[in-house]
Amino acid sequence: MSVRPIVLAAGKGTRMRSALPKVLHRLAGRPLLVHVLDTVAELNPVGITVVIGHGGDAVKSTTNTETGHKIDWAEQTEQLGTGHAVRMGLATLGDEETALITYGDVPLTRAATYQQLVDVADESTLGLLTLEVSNPTGYGRIIRESGRVQGIVEEKDATPEQRTIGEINAGVMAVRGKHLKSLLSRIDNNNAQAEYYLTDIIGLAVQEGLSIQTVNPGVIHEVDGVNSRLQLAALERLHQRDIAEQLMAEGASLMDPSRIDVRGSLHTGQDVTIDVNVVFEGRCVLGSGVSIGPNCVLRNAEIGDGTTIKAFTTIEDSRVGKDASLGPYARLRPGTELADRTHIGNFVETKNTTLGEGSKVNHLSYVGDAVVGRDVNVGAGTICCNYDGAKKHRTTIEDDVFIGSNSALVAPVKIEAGATIGAGSTISRDAPAGKLTLTRAPQASMDWERPRKKS
Ligand code: UD1
Ligand code: CA
Repeated sequence: MSVRPIVLAAGKGTRMRSALPKVLHRLAGRPLLVHVLDTVAELNPVGITVVIGHGGDAVKSTTNTETGHKIDWAEQTEQLGTGHAVRMGLATLGDEETALITYGDVPLTRAATYQQLVDVADESTLGLLTLEVSNPTGYGRIIRESGRVQGIVEEKDATPEQRTIGEINAGVMAVRGKHLKSLLSRIDNNNAQAEYYLTDIIGLAVQEGLSIQTVNPGVIHEVDGVNSRLQLAALERLHQRDIAEQLMAEGASLMDPSRIDVRGSLHTGQDVTIDVNVVFEGRCVLGSGVSIGPNCVLRNAEIGDGTTIKAFTTIEDSRVGKDASLGPYARLRPGTELADRTHIGNFVETKNTTLGEGSKVNHLSYVGDAVVGRDVNVGAGTICCNYDGAKKHRTTIEDDVFIGSNSALVAPVKIEAGATIGAGSTISRDAPAGKLTLTRAPQASMDWERPRKKS
């Protein structure tokens, strides 16, 4: 059966108190709407319709830059209710397609749950996502007679007796296109909020002899919507807990599953250990036996088997080989590629640099725009002077070089294989292979009386 999701995202989200449209607020690094789009895309839909209104241009451009989904955008210029919003999205819906109606501010519904709804919808049946909750306040209540769904009544229109009903409308439904079109043409706004309620189509469908089949989500937070920053933060923690449990199930040890944040995708090998307060962004891959100390940030990082990353290290758009050692307090900036058994120590910054196998930069250095060979030792306080104020230049350090501490390598410059650079040198011409090269003012000693303060 062809499925077409219709995602409602026109609401203002007043309670967020934000210049950003609500559906662009982020959960686990992705806008709320993008969560919904990524999930409905798993159903292989014939197309995805998104109804926008408030901040529509921003919603469009963020979606287009952050996803590859092709969207049929529909506009709802005035927010006259959920039923009116769906009507604005009907133009692209085929009569024989199944419309899956969802909200852009309900980010964590699973594809399997959507699929169940789509599967129950047919010529004579509508699928409706409902849930029994202990506090139904604010939700539409499901009215049943002899067990059969008769309709939905909104909180503001409900009688005190109806308000005691614990089964709520999650807001997601699946309806055959032709039914949806005819039902929506018949709803009105004679209700407490003077809105066109999507929920009214349920009662109308029952009057026409259609039946309603309900589906329940696996976990409650699948149907949690975001209306405030407080709800967003709470949902973030629930989602991160799910991710943490998944990582542990796959063989990673988390020192505290409540203190990890994955804002993107994280793949871990076996026996990975992750200490507290580590943040992963973008796409990160950790090989088997990788250990990450507390308070590290990794963004688009690939880490080879057996590598140890010590506390307070940040890594961005970089690749690290096997059995390497990084940190504490290392900073790998974009374009860093470290081979196996490399060491990057405390207060070392690298950028657009490759380091050959076994090479070490252990203390207080900047290595940028450099190609470093194998078994090189870069002494403490070495700086690649890569920038002349206008252009960036490259430093080449060949295999088996030893650079003395506090050296400045003024690029473009090459240190040839096996060369040694004396401590404190400023190297602005190529250093020949196998030789000791140094620039150093001669040391002098003389008699000297230091001025003293009079007491
Ligand atoms: C809606 C349901 C309620 C359900 C609840 C679940 C209706 C009438 N009520 O209530 O039964 O329990 O969701 O969360 O459907 N939107 C538009 N255009 C509009 C109005 C809303 O695009 O004119 C969008 C909003 O951006 C939001 C979604 O539709 O994403 C839901 O709207 P909201 O006003 O939050 O509905 P609720 O009152 O929560
Ligand atoms: Ca809502």
